[in-house]
This record gives sequence, C-alpha cells and structure tokens, in this order.
Amino acid sequence: MPTSQIPVITIDGPTASGKGTVAHRVADKLGFHYLDSGALYRLTALSALRRGTDLTDEHALAKLAEHLQCSFQGGDIVLSQENVSDAIRAEEVGNTASRIATFPAVRHALVGLQLGFRKAPGLVADGRDMGSVIFPHAALKVFLTASVEARAGRRYKQLIDKGFSANMQDLLVDLQARDDRDTKRAIAPLAPAEGAFVLDTSNMNADQAVDQVLQWYAGITK
Ligand code: DC
Repeated sequence: MPTSQIPVITIDGPTASGKGTVAHRVADKLGFHYLDSGALYRLTALSALRRGTDLTDEHALAKLAEHLQCSFQGGDIVLSQENVSDAIRAEEVGNTASRIATFPAVRHALVGLQLGFRKAPGLVADGRDMGSVIFPHAALKVFLTASVEARAGRRYKQLIDKGFSANMQDLLVDLQARDDRDTKRAIAPLAPAEGAFVLDTSNMNADQAVDQVLQWYAGITK
C-alpha cells in the first residue's frame, strides 16, 4: 500500500487531556500502530537535561533531537539502551519538553521520525500538531480537551500511581503555564486542526471517549 493511502487518525489536545490513553486504545482496537509524539519531545528534553545542554541553545537541542537513539518496544520507551518509560513522565521533563518544543529547529528535526510511524495497516498519532502539521491529510482528526481541573486531577493520579510525589495546586499552575506556552507559541501552536472533531472529556471516562472516536472513524470509512 502506498504510504499516502495508509489511514491516519490524529488525536491532539492539551496536556493530560487523556489523549495518550484514548489514542493507545483506539490503535489497539483497530490493530493500528501508535505514535506518542510527545514522547519524542520528552526524550529530547531528558537527553538535554542529562547532558547539561544549554536549554536556550536551539541548534544544540535540534542536533540532539535529530540524533535521538530511541525505540518503542511494546509499551516501553528506550533511549540509548535504557528503559526511560517512567523517567520521561517526570514533571521536570514535561516542562522542559514544552519549552524546547517552541524552537522551530527542534520541531523540524523530529518531523522525519514522526512520519516514519505511518505504516500499514494504519496509524493513530497523538500530540499537539498531528492533524495540523504532521498529518494534515489524516482520515480522521480529533481534538480532545478537558477542563484544567479535570486534567490536573488525572495528572495527579498518574504521578502518584507511578510513585512520584505530587501537589494539586502546583499541578494546576504548571498545567496552565504549559497550556499557555503550547497555545501561544509562534510555530505549530496547540489548536484544533481544520476539520477536527472536538471532544470534551471532562465528564467522560476513557472508554466513552474511545467509543466516540471509533464511531467517528466508522462513519468515515463506511
Ligand atoms: O503530550 P506530552 O505532555 O507528552 O508532551 C510534552 C510536551 O511536548 C508538550 O508540552 C508540548 C510538546 N509537544 C509538542 O510540542 N508537539 C507535539 N506533537 C507533542 C508534544
């Protein structure tokens, strides 16, 4: 099948909107591949933090992104032979990812890697600009959102479950700052792509959100 005909479903949205869980389950149900594009920004951030790279040096950060030695093995994310699945979820790494994602050269360096995930029989891609920039011709584009309180609550639970400490008030402030940075940056800002279906999951569980996405997809492919 030519790459241009491999179906892509994009699921974009703000941090902790549940898009990771939803995208993952939709991919499982359809037997599609899954791209967690945020993980690529987080891997670049983790690399930079560990090497002590100057976080304002766009060129050095882009170089790191371009030469990431990473692989996705089942549910595990491996960076230079080390399983960093949990390490990249730390708040410091997420905040750094959000900062370095404002650099056009860093975004550009990760484009090829992201396009490479489009393999038969299909791909579900989650992130901020999957439908607007990376896969503008996706079969289905979804913009998943939820109130900042609902998202902070989910992030709190996620962190505690992973054994990190967390403070609800700090999380709310952090989420708002990250939303601000992600939506106001000059390049590929977080916003629903043209033609995207918007789904507010504040009062929905993951299964309900997954069912809605699958229904939309079935409606498009029938
Ligand atoms: O989805 P996430 O929280 O794992 O993403 C971490 C950061 O990476 C997010 O704050 C902004 C950035 N990001 C991005 O700019 N574009 C994407 N497609 C995915 C993530």
